[in-house]
Amino acid sequence: MRESDLRGYFGEDVVPEKESVRRRAKEIARSYSLILALFGLILIFLAVWATLTSLEDEKFRGEVIVSEFNVLQVVEKTKNFDYVIFTQLWPETSCIHYRHSTPARDCRVPSTIQQWAVHGLWPSVDSGPLGPFYCNRSDKFDMKLLEPLEPELSVRWPNLFVETEEGTLWEHEWTKHGTCAMQLSELSDEVKYFGAGLKMWDQFNIFGALKQAGIEPSLKKGYQAHDIFNAVKGAFGVSPRVECLIFHGKQMQKIFLLNQIEICFDKSLNAIDCAPKSQSFFEGCSLGSPVFYPPPFP
Ligand SMILES: *[C@@H]1O[C@H](CO)[C@@H](O)[C@H](O)[C@H]1NC(C)=O
Repeated sequence: MRESDLRGYFGEDVVPEKESVRRRAKEIARSYSLILALFGLILIFLAVWATLTSLEDEKFRGEVIVSEFNVLQVVEKTKNFDYVIFTQLWPETSCIHYRHSTPARDCRVPSTIQQWAVHGLWPSVDSGPLGPFYCNRSDKFDMKLLEPLEPELSVRWPNLFVETEEGTLWEHEWTKHGTCAMQLSELSDEVKYFGAGLKMWDQFNIFGALKQAGIEPSLKKGYQAHDIFNAVKGAFGVSPRVECLIFHGKQMQKIFLLNQIEICFDKSLNAIDCAPKSQSFFEGCSLGSPVFYPPPFP
């Protein structure tokens, strides 16, 4: 059922880039001699290694997986940060990716969610995309404190992984990022941190900004990453970061799906250009290739 969701989506079966690389490696190993099989194994090993080393980049998936391997986390020596990234995700893309990269698990976009969704509010340093993380492990997440915000959070900051409890994402975001963000007086406790995310969601309505520029979910029409960037910048006056996920079609051609858009804030929570020194305003998007903004599955 999950596979068939995607079939017909672009007129063919699409798989995430890493998955298709793995499948390819397996085919080679099967159809040639033992030596080639060995070669295939090396390829698979490299694919796995590449997957592991890129977990941090793949934020949506990586966030969850990394949380399950806290022991691997390198404890940061300094908890300082320079700015805060407010990340919103397009739920359809996140679920397409998650279902295909982790077929045993499920991800669903409830019909109540027809907008972009908050992923998180992440303290970050100028010299790198993210971090610090886990600044105070004794500050335990308390779901009770969020009860007044829960109706709003469940629609604007939803957990799309249906096998996990609703609060799983919030707990993860608070423990990993909130305990660092709490150095700022505006984000100094759970209610303030999640309340700030909800307020930013209101102020930085990505769905509306894209729509105003004629960029609406479509199967048939792709968009240029620059046009997506310009639509958000035009609406809010600051340069965002635009993230795409790469999938492979049957002919190994790359298909780019719009996944996340980040708005950056200074430590007084004024919106600023996302201008990380060593990074681009785009991640995973190929400039010149169409980027698809998939509509909700029927
Ligand atoms: C960490 O959290 C605990 C529990 O909320 C608090 O008592 C402690 O002061 C915090 N430590 C720091 C360094 O903020």
